[in-house]
Amino acid sequence: MNEPLLRVEGLKKYFPIRSGLFSRVSGQVKAVDDVSFVVNEGETLGIVGESGCGKSTTGRMLMRLLDPTEGKMQFNGKDMMKLSDSEMRAARRDIQMVFQDPYASLNPRHTVERILMEPLNVHNIGKPEDRKKKVYDLLEIVGLSAYHAKRYPHQFSGGQRQRIGIARALMTNPKLIIADEPVSALDVSIQAQVLNLMQDLQEELNLTYIFIAHDLGVVRHISDRVAVMYLGQMVELTDSETLYDKPLHPYTQALLSAVPVPDPEFEREQVVISGDVPSPANPPSGCRFHTRCPFRMDICDKVVPKFAEVQSGHSVACHLYEESRPQ
Ligand SMILES: Nc1ncnc2c1ncn2[C@@H]1O[C@H](COP(=O)(O)OP(=O)(O)OP(=O)(O)O)[C@@H](O)[C@H]1O
Ligand SMILES: [Mg+2]
Repeated sequence: MNEPLLRVEGLKKYFPIRSGLFSRVSGQVKAVDDVSFVVNEGETLGIVGESGCGKSTTGRMLMRLLDPTEGKMQFNGKDMMKLSDSEMRAARRDIQMVFQDPYASLNPRHTVERILMEPLNVHNIGKPEDRKKKVYDLLEIVGLSAYHAKRYPHQFSGGQRQRIGIARALMTNPKLIIADEPVSALDVSIQAQVLNLMQDLQEELNLTYIFIAHDLGVVRHISDRVAVMYLGQMVELTDSETLYDKPLHPYTQALLSAVPVPDPEFEREQVVISGDVPSPANPPSGCRFHTRCPFRMDICDKVVPKFAEVQSGHSVACHLYEESRPQ
C-alpha cells in the first residue's frame, strides 16, 4: 500500500492560561490532546465535533500556523518538524486552507485579482504575465468570470466569496486543502453548490481534503472517512457509511440522533446526552465523555480508553468495546 499523504501521530496543542499581575502561567487549555490519524492521497477526511473540541487548532497546526506542543506530522514522506527552509516553502504551497468566513479572510481593500495574485507573488510562482492568466483561469474554474477580477469582496454574495476563497487556495496548485467549516456561514441552498464545486475540483485536480464541520450532516456526502472529536481527542474514525449506519461511540450516536434520517424505514437508536462540554482546561478523568455518557460504567472515570481499531478500518476510544480489541 502507498504511504499516506499525511500522517499525524500523538499531536498535542496546549495553550497556556495566564493570570494575575505578572501573567504567570496558571494552567493549560488542552485544545488538542494526543490525536493520531492518516489522510490518503485523493481522499476526503471529515473532522466533526462540537464547538471548542479542537478542530481548527488541529487544522492550524497542519498549516504550520501554530506550533504543536508535541507530536509528529509527516507530509508527502517528509517530517514536517524537520524541514529545511526550501522544503518548508514547498510545503506551504502544497497545503492550503479555506476558511469559514470568506469575508473576514479576504482583504476588503484589494480587488479579487490582487487577492488571487498574492499567493503567486509570495511564492514567486510563474512569470508576471502568466500570473494574470492563472487568475482568470481559476475564476472560470470556480464558476466566476474574468470580469469579476476588478471587483472588491463586498461586491459579491456569500457563496461567490467562498468561491474566491477556494480559488485563492488553488492558486499554488496544492495537494492538500484544509477546509475549516467552508459552508457553515452560507445559506443551505448555497451550501450544496459550494460542496459540489469542491467535489468536482477534487476529481479534476486530484486534491486531498480535510473537511472540518460542526455537524455530521454536512460532511456525510463529501467525506470518504469521518473522524469525530470530543474535547481535544478523537473518539471514533471510520468510513462515512459505517459511521452513519453503525456508529459505535455513544458520543457519535448522540451527534447522529440530531441528524435527520432520509429513509423513514431506517431506525437509528436515539441517544440523548445532557449537559455542556466540560472545559478543556480541566478535562474529566478517564474517558473525557464519561460525565455525559448514558452508558457510563465503573471503569470510565478511572481509565483512559485507548483509541484503537475494533473492526477493520473502524477505530473507537470507548470501554464498551474493550473485548473486541485485538489483545
Ligand atoms: N490561541 C488560543 N489561546 C488559548 N486558547 C485557545 C486558542 N485557540 C483556541 N483555544 C481554545 O482551544 C480549544 C479548541 O479551540 P478550536 O478553535 O480548535 O475549536 P473548534 O473545534 O475549531 O471549535 P469551533 O467549532 O467553535 O470552531 C477551545 O477551548 C479554545 O478556546
Ligand atoms: Mg473552529
